[in-house]
Amino acid sequence: MFNDKKVVFSGVQPSGNLTIGNYLGAIRNFGAFSEEYHCYYCVVDMHAITVRQVPAELRRRTYETLALYMACGLDPQKNTLFVQSHVPQHAELGWVLDCYTMFGELSRMTQFKDKSAKNADNINAGLFTYPALMAADILLYQTELVPVGQDQKQHLELARDIANRFNQVYGETFVVPDGYIPKEGAKICSLQDPTKKMSKSDPNENAVIRILDSKDDIIKKFKRAVTDSGNEIIHGEGKEGISNLLNIYSCFTGKTIEEAEKEFKGMGYGDFKLAVGETCADYLKPVREEFARLMADKAYLEQIMAQGAEDAYKNARRTMSKVRRKIGFTELKH
Ligand code: TRP
Repeated sequence: MFNDKKVVFSGVQPSGNLTIGNYLGAIRNFGAFSEEYHCYYCVVDMHAITVRQVPAELRRRTYETLALYMACGLDPQKNTLFVQSHVPQHAELGWVLDCYTMFGELSRMTQFKDKSAKNADNINAGLFTYPALMAADILLYQTELVPVGQDQKQHLELARDIANRFNQVYGETFVVPDGYIPKEGAKICSLQDPTKKMSKSDPNENAVIRILDSKDDIIKKFKRAVTDSGNEIIHGEGKEGISNLLNIYSCFTGKTIEEAEKEFKGMGYGDFKLAVGETCADYLKPVREEFARLMADKAYLEQIMAQGAEDAYKNARRTMSKVRRKIGFTELKH
């Protein structure tokens, strides 16, 4: 069904707590790739266990992440949606690539430094080699394009280096992937500190709007959003709070910032925040409803997982047998 198309691959950790930043900057736009590309969207449960997980929660969030992808408009008949641990070639190629990734390279990864500072009592080897597994995810499918956030740019660069290194030693084996990093315009900031990016792990819940937040919560959080001591609803320097709200409004409505400024001219900050909150909550309502419907139908989600894993497996197996041959593993003859 997908043959000959170029490949898009992206992974999301099963945290289930994605924000409107993840939605507007990434997931919402993923669907558009499926005309031109064979798209793989993977729930990376193997990456998730680099930090300690409660098993029942990991399992539930894996379902949730899949359901959320679908509720955000990713059609499982047009995209391959699957769970990383269901396709054993990820672990297999991950190990091989560990042997083509340098200690020094891994030591320079800023995410490793951040996460090991946060998890000082559990700096395990998986946390360290995380980027080699991520490279395996990408390279297994001969991926051309990887839509990721700015924070994954360094990992993607490393995946490219690993691919090039392997190709140099063994001849063309992997496609060297490009990143697809959303433009600045799509950057959604924290509602409590609008100079910072909205982060799904922000300890202050008021700073973050999650895709699945209730309408009441969304409105409450927008009402508490930090602004400035002025009274003009315009985009610009020194008005990071108002600028962020205008940007969010513009992303949800498709209106330009200038159109939004005109629309709200003369309005008080309180009413403006309420209007943005209502727009956001109304826009996300069908996503929330579809998510609830999908989560009530586990059997259907399991069918999608099985279908995705089967499709991913077929393609992953092809790359993996090429790799095995090139590095000199013997073939098991039956
Ligand atoms: N590391 C990514 C993150 O934390 C998730 C991820 C794992 C990923 N494998 C990937 C993203 C492959 C893109 C491609 O967000």
